[in-house]
Amino acid sequence: MDRSLAINLARVTEAAALASAKLMGRGDKNEADQLAVDAMRRMFDTINIDGVVVIGEGEMDEAPMLYIGEQIGHSTEGCIKVDIAVDPLDGTQSVANGYPNAISVVAVAPRGCLLNAPDMYMEKIAVGPKAKGVIDIKASVKENILNVSRALNKNVSEITVCVLDRERHKNLVQEIRQAGARIKFITDGDVLGAMNTCFEEANVDILLGSGGAPEGVLAACALKCLGGEIQGILLPEDDAQIERCKKMGVDLDKVYTTDDLVKGNEVAFSATGVTYGELLAGVKYLDNNKATTETIVLRAETGTVRFIKSIHQLDKKPRYAK
Ligand code: FBP
Repeated sequence: MDRSLAINLARVTEAAALASAKLMGRGDKNEADQLAVDAMRRMFDTINIDGVVVIGEGEMDEAPMLYIGEQIGHSTEGCIKVDIAVDPLDGTQSVANGYPNAISVVAVAPRGCLLNAPDMYMEKIAVGPKAKGVIDIKASVKENILNVSRALNKNVSEITVCVLDRERHKNLVQEIRQAGARIKFITDGDVLGAMNTCFEEANVDILLGSGGAPEGVLAACALKCLGGEIQGILLPEDDAQIERCKKMGVDLDKVYTTDDLVKGNEVAFSATGVTYGELLAGVKYLDNNKATTETIVLRAETGTVRFIKSIHQLDKKPRYAK
């Protein structure tokens, strides 16, 4: 895949982050999301790809833009055909409430390589490169923590597990505590939660618990580039969701591995911080119509990890500033 595509993806997530961050702390998560969607959609039109949204904002009848199946990109003859996964704003509540770790995120892979995951919960376990190969989502929490601690050459008491702070995780939290590990709760944003396992400075060794299945695919794209691992099992909550899984051809008994969620090695990924976080600073608006963003851009083929800090002159960027 053309390597400049990865850098172009940075423009896409930067645009969405800049647009939605304007609503930071305003209590309106839907409007923040809408601004991110609009900005992302506009920026995709400048990229020379024949793209289809595989992970998006919902079905055509529920999302006017970036819906699943939508064709996006500036398609010309012979240009690359790709699957696109987007979450214009992962952490809509975080933006609305001024909490940390909201990001704008996209991933691109050749056509047919991204799992078309239904919008429902997925049980997940994710680790960074040093613990790749030692996790098993079917094993007990204690066993996984022990195996990861061995792989990382740490005591169990030094292991930190990232968990979404949700009532449904009550038993999981108890099991982690009984195993003797630490818990770092996050209010939202388990794509970043999974990615953090790959960065020592983020102080997270394992991500455990259930979150969105689409976010599972995005996390898999990032972890494939970063050399980590994710496993997931779909968790339909009612008959309609079971039916939906059947329709989409996804298997309810299957453990989806990183390679099932994203096939092959041609993956490009970009995430831009919207609110502040350990890995990425949030958008900062400065005097004179300027703003700064921090973006991480990844490519699986080369394993390059780029942190891009940008200063934007907003009055010169009509696409960003609408
Ligand atoms: P949104 O930005 O769409 O609200 O998603 C945020 C998020 O925290 C995801 O990162 C996570 O996968 C999912 O919500 C968890 O769902 P829930 O909030 O229902 O527990």
